[in-house]
Amino acid sequence: MAALDSSILLAFLRAGDEPVSGDRLARELGVSRVAVWARLEKLRKAGFVFTAAPRRGYRLTATPRQLDPALLDAHLRLAGVQTPVELLPECDSTNSEAERRLAVGAEAPFAVLAGRQTAGRGRLGRRWHSDRAGHLYLSLAFRPFLPPESLRPFTLWMGLALCAHVEERHGVRLGLKWPNDILTPDGRKVAGMLTEARLDADSVRELVFGVGLNLVGRPQEMAEEVRQIAGTLEAAVGARLDPNREAALVIAALLHAWEQFTEGTWRRAFRSRWQKHDVLSGRSVRVGLRGKPLAGVVDGIDEEGSLILRVGGRRRAVVSSGEVTLRR
Ligand code: BTN
Repeated sequence: MAALDSSILLAFLRAGDEPVSGDRLARELGVSRVAVWARLEKLRKAGFVFTAAPRRGYRLTATPRQLDPALLDAHLRLAGVQTPVELLPECDSTNSEAERRLAVGAEAPFAVLAGRQTAGRGRLGRRWHSDRAGHLYLSLAFRPFLPPESLRPFTLWMGLALCAHVEERHGVRLGLKWPNDILTPDGRKVAGMLTEARLDADSVRELVFGVGLNLVGRPQEMAEEVRQIAGTLEAAVGARLDPNREAALVIAALLHAWEQFTEGTWRRAFRSRWQKHDVLSGRSVRVGLRGKPLAGVVDGIDEEGSLILRVGGRRRAVVSSGEVTLRR
């Protein structure tokens, strides 16, 4: 039934503003008219609105404000995504779910999304608030068989790919705050990335790239603890977004970025994207490391994606991980 719902919705998406006739749908999908009506009724109950165009059929005029498996699938098909993508209503953490699936031999790449996460996690053991529907909680799983050092710029590259995608699609320039935050033009955190890997002696066997992206609604509607600093894509774009369309296109863009990464073609685009989206260069920062915090002025990143700091005006410090706070 899910496949039939997705095919029905795909026909509506392809038709755009043109009405779709129930008879034609039934013929094209090889099912009875009664079966089509029954599915449309079920979709209506899930928040879809089909508006009648007399004697010509129906138009799809409203879609749910949360991720819906059939609509997401229809958008993924429209975007030509072949990689398996599964939307779970709920899970602990999509990164954990992807790791469990890799551990039992699932073929990669694949993607897991959740409507909500009960134990969404961020970097440095932090919690990622994940109880709002309509946001993206996504993990992509890969089996790279690449040496660990070659994966160092990977998260930055995926973040840049997300920023480039949003700029191309919505004309909004997001910022990348090394190493894993994505900010709206007014400096609110709209997305965070968490890459986790399982290594053996000389290669990365399993790699999970997790991203939480606040898609719909206003920052004021976010969890109380984060509402002062968090942003949403919808607020940054200033127009109503369909979370299913956005999710599918983000997945397509990130899978493409992964292909570029494995083929090595990412290097061509990295610098120019970095120059566009980096928000730290030239800024005075404090980097919290395990030991003592380091204060300095950011002087870009090196080939491996490590942050370069000018400390005390002269000394050059290279930082491969840490938490950056901007100083006034
Ligand atoms: C951060 O900013 O600290 C990283 C946040 C990463 C959150 C995403 S949501 C999907 C995936 N599953 C998780 O548990 N975490 C990542």
